[in-house]
Amino acid sequence: MLNMRHPLFQEHLTHLRNRSTPPQQFRRHLKEASRLLLWQALKDAPGRPVSVETPLATATAQTLGIPITLVAILRAGLGMTDGMLEMLPEAGIGHIGLFRDEKSLKPVHYYTKIPPTAGIGWTILVDPMLATGGSAIEAVNILKRKGAKEIKFISLIAAQKGVDALGQAHPDVDLTIGAVDPVLNAQGYIVPGLGDCGDRLFGTI
Ligand code: PRP
Ligand code: URA
Repeated sequence: MLNMRHPLFQEHLTHLRNRSTPPQQFRRHLKEASRLLLWQALKDAPGRPVSVETPLATATAQTLGIPITLVAILRAGLGMTDGMLEMLPEAGIGHIGLFRDEKSLKPVHYYTKIPPTAGIGWTILVDPMLATGGSAIEAVNILKRKGAKEIKFISLIAAQKGVDALGQAHPDVDLTIGAVDPVLNAQGYIVPGLGDCGDRLFGTI
């Protein structure tokens, strides 16, 4: 899914794009938008049939059939995992530290911690921005080296160039992207995008 048309998602996205939205509101809208993206990304997750006793009878029911591991690309991915963890409180949580070199736009890796659940269920990698695709491609490389098999990627806004690059490098990774914007400028920013997501989340410049 490459463009989420749902009006509730669009409402949050509009606040996130708006340069006047202050960090505390920005964090809230990113959290809510992320929950909707996770909802979409999990739509084909395998269920496990169970039966439960209602007050009246036995019902055939279903629970989530696989462990889920959420992996945030630091820093901005942290703004997405809060809301997701409220939906999936038992999820494993991993972190991959990457920042883009300002000149080369290549990702610089500084940290990885991935829980063992990544090898047995779905691993959902999250980062609000997919620009050149370099960070996401490197994060998936790291996850695969760590043994993750079923990898999904969730992002709020992508440039088409990043979608193409990630799809080419890792065609097995399923993408859930809130919006695909047309332009990547010379500094590697998505246009119109929302600016620097990490800075807007944490009030840094
Ligand atoms: C941003 C963003 C992605 C990356 C996307 O992180 O959160 O990780 O850029 O760009 P790419 O697709 O061209 O690799 P940034 O490097 O600004 O690090 P930060 O979140 O720590 O500020
Ligand atoms: N990282 C961001 O935070 N924003 C962009 O537009 C591109 C990369």
